[in-house]
Amino acid sequence: MTEDLFSPLALRGTEIPNRVMVSPMCQYSCEERDGLATDWHRTHLGARAVGGAGVVMTEATAIEPRGRISPEDLGIWSAEHAEALAPITEFIRSQGSVPATQLAHAGRKASTRRPWEGGGPLQPDEGGWDAVAPSAIPYPGHESPVDVTALSSAEVTEMVDTFAQAAEYALDAGFEIAELHAAHGYLLHEFLSPVANGRDDEYGGSFENRIRFLLEVTDAVRAVWPNEYPLFVRISGTDWLPDRESWTVEQSARLADRLAAAGVDLVDVSSGGIHPDQQLPPSGPNYQVPLAEHVREHTSEAIGIGAVGGITTAEQADALIRNDRADLAIVGREFLRDPQFPLRAARELDALDRVDVPPQYERAF
Ligand code: FNR
Repeated sequence: MTEDLFSPLALRGTEIPNRVMVSPMCQYSCEERDGLATDWHRTHLGARAVGGAGVVMTEATAIEPRGRISPEDLGIWSAEHAEALAPITEFIRSQGSVPATQLAHAGRKASTRRPWEGGGPLQPDEGGWDAVAPSAIPYPGHESPVDVTALSSAEVTEMVDTFAQAAEYALDAGFEIAELHAAHGYLLHEFLSPVANGRDDEYGGSFENRIRFLLEVTDAVRAVWPNEYPLFVRISGTDWLPDRESWTVEQSARLADRLAAAGVDLVDVSSGGIHPDQQLPPSGPNYQVPLAEHVREHTSEAIGIGAVGGITTAEQADALIRNDRADLAIVGREFLRDPQFPLRAARELDALDRVDVPPQYERAF
């Protein structure tokens, strides 16, 4: 039987009711700068569960304070953070959606102002902090960047443990899917890409060395994440820097095989973010889907594929699943425009009998 947007997806012991996932999106809304979830997160994430998303994923959620992109980012580095998130995951589950969190470390792109306050680096004397990265090379896209220090190999090992600790807190918070954020020029991606990784130890140089940190984090998180719960990894399928040694789609496919062998259930294929010289294609419909397809076609291990980028209509999302181009349609900005995107899609695709419309909203559907 052909699968479509409203076919459930079983991954390990988790049944995702349909193929639409809310893409992780920073909300810059921890007003106290403490990483604790607020009413904004509860309302924002809750509304998208009400709207019928199969998976509702949090924004990039920092595993330690230095790992935040902005001081207002969500965090998951203490029991208090887990407690603040617990009512949110409970509500998401009550609506039939699967609660998911993106575990993240911003690396050399940490400590910036939130976009509506101008973006760009926030210095320690302005409430920011110094950054850590594979190498002491600041992100070239920032004018007067914060100081960047290279992690020592002992600190890399500590960081692996910090990811695992954060995963344990995420579990306590009630999440059922964890996604490692290894895309967009943040810490895990910085290790993968020779553009940001100039190390000469076992974490730099060859492909094997550059993927080592991500594989160690994957193993450590998989060890604490229950066997019946799925683990995702978001990657940048390519750095879009064909003029220099960089991360490419071929390496992404090789990495996906290794992630599958390490117990990762789905690779969420995004792109870019490591260097401002990137030659991004225009952000039109399905603009990153060819990367997801390449990874799908060139992996020998069985692994789910999530497609993201420019998915805005019901027919487009449905076609991605029907044509077996991806297992999940991951939707970002369209969900900011319309929290009910999945319910609207069900209406447009004549599939209302296959979704649970909340009784409170039945008269609209
Ligand atoms: C994002 N994106 C993003 N990606 C990610 O992996 N973690 C994050 O926290 C964020 N934060 C974020 C905030 C906002 C406001 C936007 C618009 C985007 C990228 C996002 O998840 C998605 O990959 C892109 O927006 C492309 O998908 P769409 O928007 O074309 O569906």
